[in-house]
Amino acid sequence: MKQIPTVKSTSGWLRTIRQINAILRPLEFMEQRSRKHGDFYQVTFKKSPPTVITSNPQAIEDIFTASPDKFEVGRGNKGLNFLVGDNSLLLLDGKEHKNRRRLLMPPFHGESLQKCSEQIVEITNKVSNRLETGKPFKVRSLTQEITLRVILSVVFGIDSGARSERLRELLTTLLETFNTPLNSSLIFFPFLQQDWGKFSPWGRFLLLKQEIKTLIYAEIAERRELLAANQLENKDIFSLLLLAKDENGAGMTDEELHDELITLLFAGHETTASALAWLFYWVHYLPEVQDKLRFELNSWDQSSNYQSINNLTYLNAVISETLRIYPIAAGTFARLLTQPMSIMGYDFEPDTWLMISIYSLHHREDLYPNSKQFEPQRFLQKTYSSYEYIPFGGGNRRCIGSALALLEMKLVTATILSRFQLRLISDRGASRRHRPMLPVRRGLTIAPPASFKMMIESKID
Ligand code: HEM
Repeated sequence: MKQIPTVKSTSGWLRTIRQINAILRPLEFMEQRSRKHGDFYQVTFKKSPPTVITSNPQAIEDIFTASPDKFEVGRGNKGLNFLVGDNSLLLLDGKEHKNRRRLLMPPFHGESLQKCSEQIVEITNKVSNRLETGKPFKVRSLTQEITLRVILSVVFGIDSGARSERLRELLTTLLETFNTPLNSSLIFFPFLQQDWGKFSPWGRFLLLKQEIKTLIYAEIAERRELLAANQLENKDIFSLLLLAKDENGAGMTDEELHDELITLLFAGHETTASALAWLFYWVHYLPEVQDKLRFELNSWDQSSNYQSINNLTYLNAVISETLRIYPIAAGTFARLLTQPMSIMGYDFEPDTWLMISIYSLHHREDLYPNSKQFEPQRFLQKTYSSYEYIPFGGGNRRCIGSALALLEMKLVTATILSRFQLRLISDRGASRRHRPMLPVRRGLTIAPPASFKMMIESKID
């Protein structure tokens, strides 16, 4: 039987320092381990079953195509219940998970999604109208406001009104709790989660969360009244969830509804906001990329229909490269084996965690030569399989919002570039003379630094 290299477990302070380092600098951690141990390595945490991390495409295929009952994922995501509650899709497994996904998937695909195109362009125009020529702005604030408004309107069917505005403010402030690598430690070290009132980070987080909960429960109550009066329009995901029944004819409870809505709100905008910020960065850091992209966008006739944006091959390649070089999620969810499993000659026992390093996979030199360089043309020259390129994970846990995220990235980029000539102004990565900007941890994801700024040079008539 082949043996997986084990990253030596240390004790006491040294282990804590290593853990902090892995949390604050996850990409360096993965890079060092992959360099030293190759495609597989094992990490052991105190009192936890071993975690095997892989970046091998064959192993990834074996994991993604295995029967879902070989794994438990909810247990690994349990640590997120402080944010999304116990009834979120992220924490479900088995039949419950399958049924909930079946319910949630359709609005994020096909025709329903295309209907969102107009909203996305409208929201992008509305938010970017506030940008002033010559005045620096934080790119994240721009992309986050756009993606939050989009997800609110897709899930709640609203992009205006007092409740929607308040919800947007609260969600933005709440996520600011984890906006720096250091603040992100709150998620990973439960002993830091101390409620010392509204001036302590955790106390403030709890207050904000409670206010969000109250608003969502108020919306649930209103919609239940409409449902009872037969006046509920089936126009958004919220109503769809409210109307859904399980095989015994029972609907979702208020608590289940709340947890699912909050999951979609968080998962649906944080990630896309970071991805868009990276996209703006790369396009303006590399003038040749911007030139080619603008050339292609000039040929795009939006008046025909928004769907035609999917035919812009260079834009597609730029987006793919953006999500390759710094995948927003550095790894997939961890999968806990419930049965023995053999992968490429390694025999794994039940109670072993399997995790895929998306970052290490996306930087394999055999798949992506010059992997540290931003080169969109690699996606024009080669087609990568769904085990070689996985920014949205895979198998039965593959991201349900991938199509929405990609559509948003395309339409927001096309809309903003057609209106403005922008330039980078942040201290790091400000011009080509500087080294490229490096990612930082932001909550559970990897993002551009919060300080990253740009400026409008001129408006395009
Ligand atoms: C660029 C943007 C995004 C990226 C990079 C991303 C990435 C991911 C990844 C890596 C996973 C885990 C997959 C796995 O373990 O195999 C995931 C799961 C998930 N994502 Fe996304 N995501 C994005 C946008 C969205 C959006 C817009 C939504 C909106 C609904 C969303 C909702 C979810 C949900 C609900 C899950 C859990 C799926 C499950 O457990 O079955 N994500 N995403």
